[in-house]
Amino acid sequence: MFIKEANLETRLAHGCHKPDSETRSLASPIYQTATYGATSQEHFEDLCYNWGHVYARESNPTTDELAATLALIEGCEAGLVTSSGMGAVTSMFFSQLKSGDHIICANGIFSHTTLFLKECLMNFGVEVTFVDATDYKNVEKNLKHNTKIVYVESPLNPSLRVVDIEKISKLKEIKDFIFVVDSTFAPTPIQYPTKLGADLVIQSLTKFMNGHGDAIGGAVLGSRELINKIKWPSMPCFTGACLTPMNAWLILRGLRTLDMRVERHCKNALAIAEFLENNPLIETVNYPGIKSSPDYELCQKQMNGLGGGVLSFTLKKLTSDEDRVVKTKKIMNNLKLITIATSLGEGHTLISLYDNGLVRIAAGLENSEDLIEDLKNALDKTSEEVK
Ligand SMILES: Cc1ncc(COP(=O)(O)O)c(C=O)c1O
Repeated sequence: MFIKEANLETRLAHGCHKPDSETRSLASPIYQTATYGATSQEHFEDLCYNWGHVYARESNPTTDELAATLALIEGCEAGLVTSSGMGAVTSMFFSQLKSGDHIICANGIFSHTTLFLKECLMNFGVEVTFVDATDYKNVEKNLKHNTKIVYVESPLNPSLRVVDIEKISKLKEIKDFIFVVDSTFAPTPIQYPTKLGADLVIQSLTKFMNGHGDAIGGAVLGSRELINKIKWPSMPCFTGACLTPMNAWLILRGLRTLDMRVERHCKNALAIAEFLENNPLIETVNYPGIKSSPDYELCQKQMNGLGGGVLSFTLKKLTSDEDRVVKTKKIMNNLKLITIATSLGEGHTLISLYDNGLVRIAAGLENSEDLIEDLKNALDKTSEEVK
C-alpha cells in the first residue's frame, strides 16, 4: 500500500520520512545548515535550476519533509512551510497579487491578518472588501471583474462562527478567483478545505499542528501549480519568512499525535461550552459543536461533527459594558489552572479577553472535570466578591 492511500492514523504515524540508505535512521534528521556544498560549478548550476538545495532560506530537507507531510495529511499535491502563520499569510498574498487587484475578505478574521490587509496591502494599491462571509451571498454580491482572492477563516476567530466553504467555492463557477481558507481553528481531522473546493489552505502550525506550544510555524497547502507560484519567483525566499529546521523538526514530531490531541481538545471544548451554557452568569456561548449554535448543522457537515478546540463566551451584563469587563477580569484572575495567555491548540488551556468583554478559551489536553471545576470556582468566587 502507498502511504497516500493509507488511513489518516497511518499517514500521521509514518509521514513522508524516507530513511537514508547509510544510517537508516527512522527518525527524521535535523539538517541544521545554512548552505549546501556543490561538487562542481556545473552541479551548483544544476541545483539552482532544478529546485535542488542551494541555500537554506530557499529550501531545506527537514522543512521540505514537513511540507510534504502536511500535504499528505490534507490530501493535496503540495505544501510550503513558513516561519509563522503570518509568514504563510503574507507570503501567499504578496506572491498572488498586483496593484489593482481586488480581495474579498471575511469580517472577523485574526486581527493581524486584518491589519496586514488594511495597513499594508491597501497601501500597495490592492482593494479589499470586508464582508460577513457567514452568508456566502455577501461574497457573491461583492465579486468584481478584478477579484483575485476570496479569503476566509473557518471557524472565525474569536466569534467561532462557521463559514460555508463549499458554497463559497461554488461561486468560482460565476467568476474565477483563488479561494483561500485559513483552517487554523479546524485542523485535520476536523475539516479538509481543499476537498470542499478551496484552492489554498493556510495553517498556523504554532497551534494544533505542533500542539506542544514550543515552536512557531506556518504553512500554505494546495495544488503544485499554486504552491510553486508562491515558492518561486516569490516567497518566502524574498519575505525571508522561512521556517528553521529545528522548528520544522519539532512540528513534525508534534504531528504524529495530531488526531488524538485534536479529539481531546474538541472533547474538552465541548464539555466547557456545555458547562458555561448552563451557568446563570453567562449570557452567550459561541461554539459550533453545541446544538444552540447557529452553525451546528454546518459543523456536522463541514467539520466532521467536531466543534474544534476553541470557544468564546460573554458574561451577563449587570449595568454597563465596562462593568462586564471588570467582572470578567475578576473571574479570569481567580482561575488557578486555566492560564491567561494568547494562543491555542496546546497542552495548557488558555484564556484571553477581547475589547468588548468577549472571552476566548482554547481548551488544552487536561481532564475536562478539572477545567470545569476551575471555571466553576472562579465564577462562584467572583459572584461572592461582587455581592
Ligand atoms: C486564525 C489564525 N491565523 C493565523 C495566525 C497567525 O499565526 P502565527 O502566530 O503562527 O503567526 C493566527 C494566530 O493566532 C490565527 O489565529
